[in-house]
Amino acid sequence: MPDQDQSSATPAVELRNIDKSFYGVFANADVDFSLAKGEVHALLGENGAGKSTLCSVMAGLYRPDSGEMLFDGKPMVFKSPKDAYAAGVGMVYQHFRLVSNLTVAENLALGNPEVGLRLSQGQLEAEAKELGERYDFPVDPSARIWQLSVGQQQRVEILKLLYRDAKILILDEPTAVLTPQEGEALFRAMRMLADEGRSLIFVSHKLQEVKAVSDRVTVLREGRVVGAANTDDAEPRDLARMMVGKDLVLPTRKPNESVGDEVLVIEDLVVEDDRGLDAVDGLSISVRAGEVVGIAGVSGNGQRELAQGIVGLMKVKSGSVRLNGTDVTKKSVLAKIKSGIAYVPQSRLGMGLAPGLTTEDNLALKQYREPPYSNGPLLSAAAFGRRGAELIEEFDVRGVRPGLPIRLLSGGNLQKALIAREVVQDHSVLIARSPTRGLDVGATADVRDHILAERDRGIAVLLISEDLDELLALSDRLVVIYEGRIVGEMPASEATAERLGLLMSGEREDQSA
Ligand SMILES: Nc1ncnc2c1ncn2[C@@H]1O[C@H](COP(=O)(O)OP(=O)(O)O)[C@@H](O)[C@H]1O
Ligand SMILES: [Mg+2]
Repeated sequence: MPDQDQSSATPAVELRNIDKSFYGVFANADVDFSLAKGEVHALLGENGAGKSTLCSVMAGLYRPDSGEMLFDGKPMVFKSPKDAYAAGVGMVYQHFRLVSNLTVAENLALGNPEVGLRLSQGQLEAEAKELGERYDFPVDPSARIWQLSVGQQQRVEILKLLYRDAKILILDEPTAVLTPQEGEALFRAMRMLADEGRSLIFVSHKLQEVKAVSDRVTVLREGRVVGAANTDDAEPRDLARMMVGKDLVLPTRKPNESVGDEVLVIEDLVVEDDRGLDAVDGLSISVRAGEVVGIAGVSGNGQRELAQGIVGLMKVKSGSVRLNGTDVTKKSVLAKIKSGIAYVPQSRLGMGLAPGLTTEDNLALKQYREPPYSNGPLLSAAAFGRRGAELIEEFDVRGVRPGLPIRLLSGGNLQKALIAREVVQDHSVLIARSPTRGLDVGATADVRDHILAERDRGIAVLLISEDLDELLALSDRLVVIYEGRIVGEMPASEATAERLGLLMSGEREDQSA
């Protein structure tokens, strides 16, 4: 019937000339985008390219400065995410928005007051269970959110959209927090949803994933659409070039030539999480000079507590941390920095940097007590500025505007600034936690090069990451943790994504053999 052909040819979403700027800087500029019914459409772009902003515009979180949005052929203006919901649009944000004290079923019903009145707890849970099973996405409906792994929480976010029968699902970098196996389960569910006629937007900066799951791909750079193609027709190399605007040089890892003495030795470490549970549960690792030891694991298996326990931000309950033979377990953060630990945390603005200070001041933050910054009790502003400028140049931190707060930098540049600050001070150990999480390919390559350079000059590097590509690219030795304990260990030459992924899900190798 011609009428039906007409309607299925109408795009689920069509954006025309969308502009959105923040503080006078374009996050989206003149964006045209079209999402067909029943397709998985990848939005590919470097960090800061404008992907999240564009998604948030479609999800009603931001209003575009200008431009037009058509949903199922009808022009729409969303005043809030509620309006978008009503139009069938739902988004899973990079940072989840679940209520951690409520159960899965309660979270699904949240914001649907009539559901809460209509259904008993038991009925709610039965519905939640049925929905999970339908998409081969099982979650325990009576579990409280805080009890779930990050991967399971993400499922709840997706089920929440399906519970409201969203026709357009926007997933902002969903694989960043998943094991390879969880990623595959997600992709299967995405295909199922597309086959039902729903439309999905899949945000990623990983070419392999885009190739694996999407029908079409739109590439953004600096807020603008720089290309769109059927995924099958697109060469990964061409997509990469579009994304960064130049040919990419991927870091090549030389094997570490000389490994020295044990620098960092951790024995039977126990660190409690905020709930008083042993998140790090008797962990022993040693890292030698000139070696990168990678800690692999699904997020939430003690990574945060391990990193913060070592650097002194969280209290060590028992066990020891030794640095060049000296016990530093009980030392303060400041004393640990002095004795030679540099730390690159995951949350850049949360704790690593002072968002309101300028880039130059941030670069000087840890050293302000020492020359050249401090001359007795006086801080030298000129020295601040001079050294800062050198570091900005050396570490290729872009977008610095004199006098303006560092928080205005993009994620990749923030991370480069943080690393610059950490590695210029005297240290023998570098603890890096998910150092490239959320960064674009260009910034990721820079950060990884800096870490390898550290190793090559004899620093002992402990890399705690949820990104297997990163671990495989940088580590000389890999250790897998699960629920705060070591479940496997191997030289990098024997590690594969599959083997690590299995261990990360709690599968012990000796049992399966
Ligand atoms: N709420 C905001 N306030 C100020 N600037 C923002 C905000 N959100 C995004 N930006 C800026 O807009 C640009 C695009 O960001 P974003 O959409 O998050 O990119 P992506 O998701 O591709 O990494 C970046 O320069 C970022 O700093
Ligand atoms: Mg984003």
